[in-house]
Amino acid sequence: MLTFSNGSDCMNLPNLNQARKRTSKEVLIKTNDYIVKENLKELGKNRKYYIKTYGCQMNVHDSENIKAILEDMSFEETNNLEDADLILLNTCAIRENAHNKVFGFLGRVKHLKESKPHIISGICGCMAQEENVVNQIKDKYKWVDIVFGTHNIINLPNILATSMQKKEQEIEVYSIEGDVLENLPVKRDSKYKAWVNIMFGCDKFCTYCIVPYTRGKQRSRKPEFIINEVKELVDNGYMEVTLLGQNVNAYGKDLNMDYKMGDLLRDVAKTGIKRIRFMTSHPWDFDDDMINAIKDCDNIMPYVHLPLQSGSDRILKLMGRRYTKEKYIELYNKLKANIKNVSITTDIIVGFPGETEDDFKQTLQVVNECKYDSAFTFIFSKREGTPASKMEDNVSLEEKNKRLYELNELVNKYANEANQRYLNKKTKVLIEGIGEKGNLFGYTDTMKLVNVDGSEDNIGKIVDVLITDVKTWSLDGKIV
Ligand code: SAH
Ligand code: SF4
Ligand code: F3S
Repeated sequence: MLTFSNGSDCMNLPNLNQARKRTSKEVLIKTNDYIVKENLKELGKNRKYYIKTYGCQMNVHDSENIKAILEDMSFEETNNLEDADLILLNTCAIRENAHNKVFGFLGRVKHLKESKPHIISGICGCMAQEENVVNQIKDKYKWVDIVFGTHNIINLPNILATSMQKKEQEIEVYSIEGDVLENLPVKRDSKYKAWVNIMFGCDKFCTYCIVPYTRGKQRSRKPEFIINEVKELVDNGYMEVTLLGQNVNAYGKDLNMDYKMGDLLRDVAKTGIKRIRFMTSHPWDFDDDMINAIKDCDNIMPYVHLPLQSGSDRILKLMGRRYTKEKYIELYNKLKANIKNVSITTDIIVGFPGETEDDFKQTLQVVNECKYDSAFTFIFSKREGTPASKMEDNVSLEEKNKRLYELNELVNKYANEANQRYLNKKTKVLIEGIGEKGNLFGYTDTMKLVNVDGSEDNIGKIVDVLITDVKTWSLDGKIV
């Protein structure tokens, strides 16, 4: 066991002080590190796993890696919790309510384990990177068998085997800057659209945000690895890729080469994949070359998620976002002017520490100006270890709820208006599958959900759809 000078007594437990560190240490690109030992390849034989995923697309994609690793150990997937011999929760730490959901679900797992003690349970993802969460699991959830962090997915076979052999809680969480792993296997959820990581981690350290602590430093993948992955997807019949990163616009800045997001977008476009999306875009690094790439390449979708967070310069500064309301609107207008039919969505936080009624009014003003296609809106949530958690949170919960309500009313109004423009028009939709009500569903190039009448033969195809009805969050249509 190693002892760190900063208080942590074991390198396998999360440590916020470590997680915060950024050094100039070279990022290792690991192409051969994932191995499942021969004696572990049958560990999961006749056993089923159930994995529940919270949080962002990056977590969804991590779960696709975890599934493939478990299948390399002969586990079989089940979508029925009651059938599972192994239950994993891949968690998100972004807001307090994400925590509450996980601890709520753990109650169900505990109950199941009481009648079936052989069940193995585990927690991974961003919550596993949090000191307070892991302490709580060590103290009060001793029956949780494994805990592993976002940097420890590669070692899942050994973590699982050790816990099963010793019949003890096994925790392995590294709070490191991180490497780039290139040979993790993947079991994709869809046959038509794929998540492709282009970078890991984040160095922006917005003052409210936990991600830079849970995911390590910004590490871009080398272009050739990304392009080869997309080429392989094209060969396997995939229609759409979403390039993933916390700040895709900053792609390449950490690589020692003159190659940025605009270059990557153009090279990915050349693979011939039908649809390219990317998320998330931080306004800070959005350069003209990137805008031109989107404009020039027909297979880059006219859809940009551009988080605003706040419309008040004072709050933006406290948040560490490094743009002003004016700069944001300037970028917004540039995108609208250059990319035909572009759809723009956003994220907004209300009730940041010290947010006054006037600050909030400025946020509403930006929404009135930008008339977003849609927006994700949140009440500020204090995350332990972040600078904002030390700021005085002087806005009452009642006030925060009131602001959220008012903001949502406005956002919904514009979302509905944006959707109305599609009524009685023809639009291209990639049909992804059958929805809950038995109809087909898919997305437009602008990322609008469409419920479609038509035959199942259209699944996996891009078809022309006539929009016959419009709702705030979705469109209805029929194939023409
Ligand atoms: N990398 C992305 C954001 C990822 S988190 C970006 O910078 O745009 C997704 C959204 O969650 C953020 O845009 C923000 O609006 C929200 N969020 C993050 N931390 C939060 C917190 N502590 N409280 C409330 N909302 C938060
Ligand atoms: Fe969080 Fe900011 Fe990084 Fe986005 S850019 S992940 S909000 S720190
Ligand atoms: Fe949540 Fe981690 Fe994603 S905190 S939003 S799962 S990077």
